[in-house]
Amino acid sequence: MLWPLTTTRDSAGSLAIGGVSLTDLAHEVGTPLYIYDERTVRDSIRSYRTAFERHYPSTRVVYAGKAYLAGWLLTILEEEGLFLDVVSGGELYVAHAAGFPMERVIFHGNNKTADELRLALELGCGEIVIDNEHEIDLLEQLGPGVRNPLDVMLRISPGVDAHTHEYRKTGLIDSKFGLPIETGDAARAVERIAGIRWLRLLGYHAHVGSQIFEVDPFVAALGILFQFAADMEERFGVEPLRMSPGGGLGIQYETTDPDVNVDEYASRLADSVSTAVERYSLGKPELVVEPGRSIVGQAGVALYTVGAIKEIPGVRRYVSVDGGMADNIRPALYGARYSVALANREAQGAQLVTVAGKYCESGDVLIHDVELPPLSPGDLLAIPAAGAYCLAMASNYNLALRPAVVVVTDGRYRVVQRRERYEDLLCRDV
Ligand code: LLP
Repeated sequence: MLWPLTTTRDSAGSLAIGGVSLTDLAHEVGTPLYIYDERTVRDSIRSYRTAFERHYPSTRVVYAGKAYLAGWLLTILEEEGLFLDVVSGGELYVAHAAGFPMERVIFHGNNKTADELRLALELGCGEIVIDNEHEIDLLEQLGPGVRNPLDVMLRISPGVDAHTHEYRKTGLIDSKFGLPIETGDAARAVERIAGIRWLRLLGYHAHVGSQIFEVDPFVAALGILFQFAADMEERFGVEPLRMSPGGGLGIQYETTDPDVNVDEYASRLADSVSTAVERYSLGKPELVVEPGRSIVGQAGVALYTVGAIKEIPGVRRYVSVDGGMADNIRPALYGARYSVALANREAQGAQLVTVAGKYCESGDVLIHDVELPPLSPGDLLAIPAAGAYCLAMASNYNLALRPAVVVVTDGRYRVVQRRERYEDLLCRDV
């Protein structure tokens, strides 16, 4: 589904989410505005929890914080029993500041710095996914932290080619992430880690990419991980207790995108684990899945106000809004397609328009060639499926102020992040 579960049109014709009118929100909080529907977030989390409860109860559902991370969400993740994947000192810090249980935090990344690793060890981060040899050196130098032994997994580059944008492929041999098996690098890392007394190597991780609609690449990655794990058990006596095919299930951005079935994903992963443990005579490990986009994507809607409208006869009609690539870089970066709706009123008719941002780049276009009713300055446009990788990748380009964020639930809203102010643009100056 494209829109948050609670999306309706109210009696005044305005779109409403969580029982809150988007027109009222625009008046009271301003635009550009990001609106998250609490019910949709919880529902997405529960669909994962329920599916794995049914098919493979020994599964950790780990939310990938890079999709979007903030205190309000961390509270929900904790309440719903999720784990958290962080990829930077910043994400570690925010998780800790929000009081998220650090034993449920997993630290990823292909170039964790010594300072970041030290912070993770000090804060008692529950697990580190080791990406490369250099990281083993750093961990050796740092020595044990709060947790001793410290649980680690090893990230493998499995050589699986998933059908997604080049920039989102991470499982190929030619990737900056993880250790290849073919070269012997992965096995050498296992041998080294197994020799460090305060590290406990629990198993192997792979992430094949993001915005993936097929389950096959995940199954293929798991197959490769298990084959490797069996080899490592034989050679170094390292028993695989935890295995992860990463994150990456896709979401709908347009109605023509497939609607992914989490239950089928869970069921196929469970089958592939069962097949592998039987084939290699291994014990059943814990499974770790790391959804990011599919937890928060559908819950978030971006709301903009229409400003300038430029008609180039016979060529194109540009409708410019008060946000753009500074809050959503995805169309410019990946050619990502979004949908849009007129939010403040119901209207008849359709015109082909291009929804442009306000930043100084010709490439700052949110949606090329989309049909909308005839628009006027002051109209509100809502873009669904904006909950993941929009705010998380937002910038201050053109010294844009980053948008406010509200969470809606049961007819009420709360501002969880205020809009940036001009003073914020000076606060780091020395
Ligand atoms: N686990 C690992 C190790 C990852 O690298 C990622 C995403 C995830 C889990 C979560 O993947 P998800 O379920 O959200 O697809 N900025 C890009 C997406 C980059 C994804 C990076 N890694 C985009 O906007 O499409």
